[in-house]
Amino acid sequence: MEDFRAKKQRGEKITALTAYDYPTARLLDESGVDMILVGDSLGMVVLGYEDTTRVTLEEMLHHTRAVARGVKHALLIADLPIHTYDTPEQAVETSRRLVESGAEAVKFEGGATHTAQLAAIITEGIPVMAHIGMLPQSVREEGGYKVKGRTPPGAERLMRDADAVQAGGAFAVVLEIVAAETARQITAQLSIPTIGIGSGEHCDGQILVTHDLIGLFPWFTPKFVSPEARVADEIRKAARAFIYRTRSGKKAS
Ligand code: KIV
Repeated sequence: MEDFRAKKQRGEKITALTAYDYPTARLLDESGVDMILVGDSLGMVVLGYEDTTRVTLEEMLHHTRAVARGVKHALLIADLPIHTYDTPEQAVETSRRLVESGAEAVKFEGGATHTAQLAAIITEGIPVMAHIGMLPQSVREEGGYKVKGRTPPGAERLMRDADAVQAGGAFAVVLEIVAAETARQITAQLSIPTIGIGSGEHCDGQILVTHDLIGLFPWFTPKFVSPEARVADEIRKAARAFIYRTRSGKKAS
């Protein structure tokens, strides 16, 4: 965990990507990414749910075990799914089970409202990456994925959240869809690294959902993502070639 603080001090950017299965985890790990997150975005990009609010702990444990088999170097972090950390005791029990499944650290959504959960997990010796800004598990109450920290009161609330998670012992904090200037100020204010997603270029690192980065979920790509590949097109192409070859007995030209 200290490595990440040192990277921040040296101005070296931290890279983080999500994985939900063994081959992707192994490929990302072999590529040299710093952190691999078994995110509860699993619910949307792998399980086909509308949002992350239906993801269960059993699903997270199953995918964490698969990812753990593929990771040798990166820090493996797993998300606490919704309603598995409503109390500090529950947060500890959920975190323990994720660690037993191979996670080295956990992440959950919430700032100043969740300092009791943060303290309880850290007291158990489990490192925590915090997650503030747009909180996908609250998307239904929020009515969509909206930018946070745009107004002065919104920015102040986020600063307070950032201070609270740093004081509580989080080793890093994800800033999701935070106005770039607010993300810059939080990054300057904290000694722990900020890992941005849709929060501009001033964060100490960046995290993306791998399916967005590689174009494997073509039905929706967040505005802030520039895909580096079009894997969905390759899958369609290979499947069509196979179908043609099998039905016609000829190779596609
Ligand atoms: O669930 C997730 O994938 C996340 C992100 C920060 C990418 O929480």
